[in-house]
Amino acid sequence: MSDAKDGGSARDFRSGVPFGDLPDGAMIVGRVDADDVLLARHGDALFAVGAHCTHYHGPLADGMIVGDTVRCPWHHACFSLQTGEAVRAPALDPVACWRVERVGDMVFVREKRAASAPRRLRDSSQVPTSVVIVGGGGAGLAAADMLRREGYGGPVTIISGDDSPPCDRPNLSKDFLAGTAQEDWIPLRSPEFYVEQRIDLVLGTRVSMLDVRQSNVVLDNGKRHAFGKLLIATGAEPVRLTVAGASAIPIHYLRTFGDSRAVIASVSSAKRVVVVGASFIGLEVAASLRARRIAVDVVAPDHEPLERVMGREVGRSIRTLHEGNGVAFHLGTTIRRIDGRIATLSDATTVDADAVVVGIGVRPVITIAEDAGLTIDRGIAVNEYLETSAAGVFAAGDVARWPDPYTGERIRVEHWVVSERQGQVAAKNMLGLRQRFDAVPFFWSQHYDVAINYVGHAERWDAIEIDGRLEARDCTVTYKHAGRALAVATIGRDRTNLEAELKMERVTRSQ
Ligand SMILES: Cc1cc2nc3c(=O)[nH]c(=O)nc-3n(C[C@H](O)[C@H](O)[C@H](O)COP(=O)(O)OP(=O)(O)OC[C@H]3O[C@@H](n4cnc5c(N)ncnc54)[C@H](O)[C@@H]3O)c2cc1C
Ligand code: FES
Repeated sequence: MSDAKDGGSARDFRSGVPFGDLPDGAMIVGRVDADDVLLARHGDALFAVGAHCTHYHGPLADGMIVGDTVRCPWHHACFSLQTGEAVRAPALDPVACWRVERVGDMVFVREKRAASAPRRLRDSSQVPTSVVIVGGGGAGLAAADMLRREGYGGPVTIISGDDSPPCDRPNLSKDFLAGTAQEDWIPLRSPEFYVEQRIDLVLGTRVSMLDVRQSNVVLDNGKRHAFGKLLIATGAEPVRLTVAGASAIPIHYLRTFGDSRAVIASVSSAKRVVVVGASFIGLEVAASLRARRIAVDVVAPDHEPLERVMGREVGRSIRTLHEGNGVAFHLGTTIRRIDGRIATLSDATTVDADAVVVGIGVRPVITIAEDAGLTIDRGIAVNEYLETSAAGVFAAGDVARWPDPYTGERIRVEHWVVSERQGQVAAKNMLGLRQRFDAVPFFWSQHYDVAINYVGHAERWDAIEIDGRLEARDCTVTYKHAGRALAVATIGRDRTNLEAELKMERVTRSQ
């Protein structure tokens, strides 16, 4: 695998490209009529697909070819070069494909190929009479989408406590909050999608009870809903802050589209906002509010932001980045009370605030699983096929604790890409396809123009190796335990992050 490419020069692929310009593993960007196209070679096979990722438009030519797939450098979506299908989230839509023809020493890109039809289910004995998905987040939507892609024709119902359809949750603390992403970019799918795909989306409705023996769920309006197979994808909810005093200002949490809109409405006239918590959401909120020129004070008990996940040195560097953008930190402190518009911290400092946004962590929403007697292990325990202790009941996303083949531990994470990929794998397993969930966890976080990509999972480490320079925003940080790399974070080195993911996958798959 190599990645020779010519960085986007607009070659006309209809006029042909010398075969010699395409060594094995090469990716070249050019044009076919009005489209940007990626021409790629893997062994003797040649492929032409859309040049931009369907997630956030990442440049696929800067990614990596793995077998007959290409991985996006930004958030590791994976597309089939054969069919264009988005085989792994976070992209859900395919890239277009063109027919490629080699004539002598020249390679020509010909006509666009028709989109692939859904697959046909082979083993109908495993096919459930219906599928109910509890939760309209990343995992729930990705599962429903995959059921249809796999050719499942039975009833699919998503029951969601959210008032809005499944949305791009990570965007709620980033571009949408900063005011640079429009409202209509946030839903993951259009209203027509649910109609066309015959997915019954029940919003603003919670499941209050799961009856495994009777194979049905009870909704908060008292109705019962039967299922053939069930996916629990109830995600996580923000930990609440208890503050003394008489606050005259709004205290916000950020989980739903509605929450993000409420923050925007309340900061529209604000001059100062206090952000409680210095982990990913708190810091992303701080960056987005700075984009709106609002003064931000971050209050957190930690020594450095992000320290628990990324270590002290990375945390210090991220703090410097935020301070350079005007954020004031009050670390080693907590909010003791709020009186009117004044927050008093545990070190007696006072800070003025027109609003407070709290990001102090989340906890998995497991009540219905717990009450139904499913095995709980700081989340819902699932096996490698994402099935819970009850046959036919699966769990995916922030709620699920699964056996991670790389670390050999049972882990639970709160990452967007993992939730969607688990939803996809759970969907396949509900159809009897028996696919192990063995993806290496990945997440990203965005602070101003700095993106952190993190692959693997290191809850603890005994060594951190830093290659490159944090302050130059060009580095690889490796988290090791007993000499073994458990996780790799990169800034400004997307390709290295993809390589680290692949290396960990190969270890996992060789076991
Ligand atoms: C603001 C924000 C920014 C983030 N940024 C990033 C990021 O940059 N990178 C990253 O990797 N991750 C990020 N995350 C985390 C990521 O969004 C989550 O890991 C992901 O959303 C989990 O998906 P999920 O489907 O498991 O749960 P969720 O997306 O939380 O969805 C859970 C769904 O279940 C519903 N529900 C809960 N209980 C019930 C019930 N009893 N009945 C019916 N419905 C119920 C909820 O209403 C909701 O629809 C971010 C999260 C937030 C909130
Ligand atoms: S832009 Fe490609 S995965 Fe996000």
